[in-house]
Order: sequence, then structure tokens, then C-alpha cells
Amino acid sequence: METPEEILSTLKVEIAQAASTAELKSVETKFLGKSGSLIELAKSVSQLPKEDRPAFGKRVNLAKSEGESLLASRLEQLKVSEQLSQFERERVDITMPGERLLLGREHILQQTINRIKRVLGGLGFQYVDSPELEEFRFNFKELNYPKDHPAMDDQDTFWIDDKYLLRTQCTAFQGRRLAAGLKPPFRLFTIGRTFRNEKVDATHGHTFHQVDCFMIDEGISMAHLKGTLGAFARAMIGPDVKVRFRPDFFPFVEPGVDYAISTPKLKGGEWIELGGAGLIHPNILKEFGIDREKYSGFAFGLGVERIPMMAYGVSDLRPFLQNDFRFLDQFKFEPLWS
Ligand code: FA5
Repeated sequence: METPEEILSTLKVEIAQAASTAELKSVETKFLGKSGSLIELAKSVSQLPKEDRPAFGKRVNLAKSEGESLLASRLEQLKVSEQLSQFERERVDITMPGERLLLGREHILQQTINRIKRVLGGLGFQYVDSPELEEFRFNFKELNYPKDHPAMDDQDTFWIDDKYLLRTQCTAFQGRRLAAGLKPPFRLFTIGRTFRNEKVDATHGHTFHQVDCFMIDEGISMAHLKGTLGAFARAMIGPDVKVRFRPDFFPFVEPGVDYAISTPKLKGGEWIELGGAGLIHPNILKEFGIDREKYSGFAFGLGVERIPMMAYGVSDLRPFLQNDFRFLDQFKFEPLWS
């Protein structure tokens, strides 16, 4: 039979070898558990001759209490080191880059449209919606296009049937409003998608956006048109913008002009064409029963894509509608109107 001192020394070795609290727990059970070797030894005291019992019992108790205190202090050590390695495993690296949250932002064309709405609204024009699916009569006929006139060929479109087409110009909203009984004086504008059956290239899309604006009041002349487009361009782009008119033909205006702007900010002051304009054709006033002696009006229309193209120096309009985030994500600032 092993002596208490022998058992204690084996216990000491095993305590030293225990590498975790779990291992230490099983060492404890092996020696001091219900049927642990030191406990069994204590039980055997009763089988010894009476005179040997006190001395042997004392040795067993000494071995037990030393074993217990060694176990307790080793347990503390192991707990601390296990905690430290857990901290190490779960350490949060506060220098690691976080996950980037993508914040939504309005599409560059929407930003431009909002800007146009604010500026024209500030000039006293009221915004109205108008359908993309338009009737032939409003897109062409009521706009004073003579039957089979070649000017319609410039705006070949997508036909739905003999009556409906996808509008080729936002100017269609003028006839639509006048036919609905609109009477002067008024100032209205619309903005929206426009469609043409074009050979698509860097400056021509099959789908693009236009703003179209018209007003009718007493004594409206080219001076009002020029003043309005000048104010519009300055508010959109900056105080030093100049506006140029050159004669052009559109069936619904007389005289008709194309208009361009120039600013030292863009292309060193080169003239940049924005759209068409003119005084509302007398045939249209007559068609809708507006007193031509009393009233006259002007109209203008321009391509929306043109504005961010100029502002950001983009030479191709196709990516504006292609939903490529790498392209769209670039428009964080408003370089012209900030
Ligand atoms: C018109 O559409 C006339 N309705 C403008 C107008 C309104 C004149 C009122 C007089 C009075 P035009 O076809 O030139 O005109 O187009 C006007 C602008 O729309 C162009 O200057 C251009 O900026 C834009 N645009 C025209 N076609 C395309 C296209 N395929 N892709 C992108 N932009 C276009």
C-alpha cells in the first residue's frame, strides 16, 4: 500500500502537469474525489491497529490538506492564464477598417431636374407633369406640323399604334394643356423622359430628358424670352453666363432660335448649345382661340443631360441611364452651382 507521502508526491507531479482547469479538476477527483486515492487511504485508517491510527490519520490529513491547498493555488493560476488567452482570442482590433455604409444619393439627372424646378419655380413658372405616352396630335399635329412635313422626320419615334407614340419632345405638353382649356396669362413647364428612334451615339440617346417651358401673356416679346433664358442660365450656372440666340426652325415658334450659353467656367467660354426657343406661332394661338391682338407668348426646350455633361465635363450621355454605380457615384458635388 502507498503511503500518504507517496500519494502526495504523485499528486504534486500531476498538479504541476495539469495544463487547464479541466485537467486539474480530474486530478482533484482522482486524488480527493469520493473514491480518490487519498480518501480511500483515509477510509482504511479504521482497519489499522488502534495504536497506529492517530499517527497515520494525522499523516493522511496532512497530505490531504497540503494537496488541497496546492490544488487551490494551481487552480487560481490556471484560471488567470485561461482568462488571458480568452481575452487574446476575443480581442477587438479597433484599428481595423469598419464596414462602409453606402449612403443613397439622388441620381445626377434627378439633382439637375430638382435644380431646374427650383430655378424656373423662382421665375414664376408652375411645374406640371405630362405623359410619356403621347398622342400624335399633341406631339406633332397641334404643334403646327403640316401633314407629312419633313420636320417630323427629325424626330422619328416609337409608335404604339396610329394614335399613340412615345413623345419625341416635351413640347407636346403645350397642345395638351391648351386643348384642356388653359387660358392666358400663364407660365408653365414640364420635365421628363423623351424618346427618339435615333442612331445612338455619344450625344444622341433613344431615351433622354427634356425641360419644356412656355408662357402666354400680354405683350410678350423676344426680349422677355431672352431675359428669361438669361436669368435661367445665370441661376443654373453662375452670374457670368451669356446667352446667344441664332435663327432656327421649329414649326411651333415664329421666329425660332437655337440658344447657346457661354461662361469662362466652361470650355474657356466657348458657346455651348442647350436647346431651341422662340415666340409661340400665331397658328397655335389661333387654333386654341387665344386673342392674338392681346396675347403673345414664348417657349423654349432643352436637353437635361446637357447640363451635367457640361458641368462635369462628361462627353458621352449614354452612361447617365446605364445604372453603372462606378459612373454615378462620381457625382457627389455640384461643381457649377455649389
Ligand atoms: C426640340 O425638341 C424642341 N421641342 C425644343 C423647342 C421647344 C424649340 C420650344 C422651340 C420652342 P431639339 O430637337 O433641338 O428641339 O431638342 C432640344 C434639345 O434636346 C437638344 O438641344 C438636345 O439638348 C436635346 N436632345 C435632342 N435629341 C436628343 C437625343 N437624341 N439625345 C439626347 N438629347 C437630345
